[in-house]
Amino acid sequence: MEGAVLPPLPAPGGWPGPVFVMGAAGRVGGEIVRQLAPTGAELWAAVRDPQRATLPPGVRPVRFDVTDPATSPALRGVAVLFAMWPPGTGVGDLERLFAAARAEGVRRVVFLSILGAERLPFLPHRRIERALEASGLDAVLLRSGYFMQNLTGIHAPEVRRGELLIPSGEGRTSVVDVRDVAAVAGRELARPLTAPAVRAWSLTGPQALTFTEMGHLLGVALNRPVRHVSPDPVTFVRTVTGWGIPRGLALFMLAEYTVARLGLAARLTGDVQAALGRPPIPFARFAEDHREVWLGGATAESG
Ligand SMILES: NC(=O)c1ccc[n+]([C@@H]2O[C@H](COP(=O)([O-])OP(=O)(O)OC[C@H]3O[C@@H](n4cnc5c(N)ncnc54)[C@H](OP(=O)(O)O)[C@@H]3O)[C@@H](O)[C@H]2O)c1
Repeated sequence: MEGAVLPPLPAPGGWPGPVFVMGAAGRVGGEIVRQLAPTGAELWAAVRDPQRATLPPGVRPVRFDVTDPATSPALRGVAVLFAMWPPGTGVGDLERLFAAARAEGVRRVVFLSILGAERLPFLPHRRIERALEASGLDAVLLRSGYFMQNLTGIHAPEVRRGELLIPSGEGRTSVVDVRDVAAVAGRELARPLTAPAVRAWSLTGPQALTFTEMGHLLGVALNRPVRHVSPDPVTFVRTVTGWGIPRGLALFMLAEYTVARLGLAARLTGDVQAALGRPPIPFARFAEDHREVWLGGATAESG
């Protein structure tokens, strides 16, 4: 998106009001909570089971399930909302969320979408974007590339074994660090409230890499080889479902990596730099910062 760098995070009194973070125990929501907690923002962390949530001090856990309209009153008093589409839920659940948000007085929604969604009208993310655009709320669409943190999440066990089993061939993927996505989300949540408008950011890191190159950079960080293996589709689905990954998710991953194999996942943008006034985090730094996850000293992140 063109325009000035987003204002920095404000002091405690400078926030538009309470900030509701959906998926607060997940990757992006969790990172937003981590980045905003020290600013003194009034943070409401939406989780389905508040008993199980581990949150920074001062963050208020709120029971919320986007599929359960009975939990919508949790939005009362919220000024700005971070929303994401939990896979497995319906587009209609998010449509109802935006209507409830409007009815409860929420002013802005920052929605986590997917890079290129604007060209994919049948994708759930694009249908949700359109519902948000039509909602009358101030709407921010964060169209994000492939998260580097997939390699500390769903692919972490492979990296620990020195392998990346990804059917992407030598296609390139424009990976982005979740910390950059959360940083843009945080600044958009913090912006002073104005008349409703629609803004979109297309967020990528500085490089489009093949998984062979990512394996090499992981190997440098870990001081041991990480080999990329690109199996055929049937072998991929059979192998990962054998590891316990649900078949639906395995098929979704296959589709995503096939897009990369076809050379269609390599688009880079300057939006992280434009939004934050600093370059996006490169993959080598992501690998260095997360060594402990793969060396066994830390628990893998979700997803
Ligand atoms: N992976 C990628 O590379 C990538 C790239 C671009 C965009 N995306 C999009 O990012 C989204 C996932 O975000 P993420 O990775 O931050 O999430 P995540 O780490 O996969 O965590 C999923 C979150 O969804 C919440 N959740 C699940 N069901 C829910 C429900 N019924 N109501 C409310 N919350 C529910 C869970 O909360 P609790 O279990 O605590 O309730 C959890 O915090 C997806 O829409 C995905 O398409 C992913």
